[in-house]
Amino acid sequence: MKITVVGTGYVGLVTGACFADMGNDVWCVDIDKNKIENLKKGIIPIYEPGLEEIVKRNHEEGRLNFTTAIEEGLDQSLFAFIAVGTPPGEDGSADLQYVLKVAEEIGCNMKHYTIVINKSTVPVGTAEKVREKINEVLAERKDTELEFDIVSNPEFLKEGDAVDDFMRPERVIVGCDNVRTGELMKELYAAFTRSEERFYTMDIPSAELTKYAANCMLATRISFMNEISHICEATGANIEMIRRGIGSDSRIGRSFLYAGIGYGGSCFPKDVKALIRTSRQLGMESKILNAVEEINQEQRVLFAKKVADYYKGDLKGRKFAVWGLAFKPQTDDMREAPSVDIITALHALGASFVAYDPIAAENAKELLPDTNIEYVHNNYECLKDADALIIMTEWHHFRKPDFERMKSLLKEPVIFDGRNQYNNISMKERGFTYISVGR
Ligand SMILES: NC(=O)c1ccc[n+]([C@@H]2O[C@H](COP(=O)([O-])OP(=O)(O)OC[C@H]3O[C@@H](n4cnc5c(N)ncnc54)[C@H](O)[C@@H]3O)[C@@H](O)[C@H]2O)c1
Repeated sequence: MKITVVGTGYVGLVTGACFADMGNDVWCVDIDKNKIENLKKGIIPIYEPGLEEIVKRNHEEGRLNFTTAIEEGLDQSLFAFIAVGTPPGEDGSADLQYVLKVAEEIGCNMKHYTIVINKSTVPVGTAEKVREKINEVLAERKDTELEFDIVSNPEFLKEGDAVDDFMRPERVIVGCDNVRTGELMKELYAAFTRSEERFYTMDIPSAELTKYAANCMLATRISFMNEISHICEATGANIEMIRRGIGSDSRIGRSFLYAGIGYGGSCFPKDVKALIRTSRQLGMESKILNAVEEINQEQRVLFAKKVADYYKGDLKGRKFAVWGLAFKPQTDDMREAPSVDIITALHALGASFVAYDPIAAENAKELLPDTNIEYVHNNYECLKDADALIIMTEWHHFRKPDFERMKSLLKEPVIFDGRNQYNNISMKERGFTYISVGR
């Protein structure tokens, strides 16, 4: 089957590569000429485990093609995915200009029946706007006979596990308004969803809202645990014990129960804001999501305050080693990373930094231009003569470090751990002043 994917970012490139890997003929379209030229040469713009190999292999074998010309893709494609960004606008609502621009381009260039599939995360009602836009363009073209269908197919992949999530999805959600389109989508996804109960067809608004509900639920769990961590700190309880105690309850489950410096990335912050905005537009105020967002922002401020308070608010001349900058491990994505706010706040109080992140440093440099950071290539290298270590991201190789070596390099054995990586009793026994979250 020939498939076009418009937007070759995290979602579009993974989608295109995985469909090509199943034998489809895929055309990935992007307006970024540089990105497309690099992809043709096998240069992958993002870090995503396993992606480079399948992109290169499928490109070399002629199943995965890159172009800036949408018409090349649309020609003979039955399926056209929209996978462009939906960043938050000034009021927090999802900015739909890129999605609607692609809808317009599809309308201008399509020559036969096409199933237009929205994979971008978009508010309820967007599918109708896409349909209206395409109809508007077809009317201008005087081609109102040309038929198309609209599908909402939100993407649930996680950065860092994106290929695996796409290849073995826990569910595929397809919102459509007729049985035939649903069946064609089922056939398209059959290679990934051998077991039928992983494929859910529903009406379009439900599919659109499912994506927001999922991300907002996960963000809520994180903020809930962060709020409980405040009670722990005030009472002497330990959030790690609470996490284990409640996570073992099958009704609750273990995922997304980690207290720390809060969520970041390109999805949770913007999707929480967008659903707050959608509710407001409908005349409702989301009490839960307002609190989720507020707690998440507060968590960064409180952590920076913990560091500042330890030094009685004076950080002039203090140098901090920083382990991890990305919003989570296994990604180079720095969008909305807590490290940015925390470093900025501490820098305003006079601190300087030596930072190590295995892959996000280049992206961090753009977001933290004037914050007195030296970047190094090894996690021990940055400890030398630092006043303390701050852990921002829970990269795997930070879990079992050589504590004696760390002590010998740091000026003082002080660790501020935003990700609760170590046992606080063992750290005390090892001779560290260990300040974490909710313990
Ligand atoms: N990143 C994630 O983990 C993730 C997960 C699930 C869903 N999503 C959602 O998927 C959507 C895409 O996210 P992303 O992270 O892949 O975005 P991204 O910013 O990484 O990529 C978007 C791409 O679209 C391209 N683009 C913009 N306008 C275009 C146009 N008119 N024609 C062709 N290309 C165009 C951009 O150049 C860019 O390469 C968003 O709605 C996001 O919320 C993202």
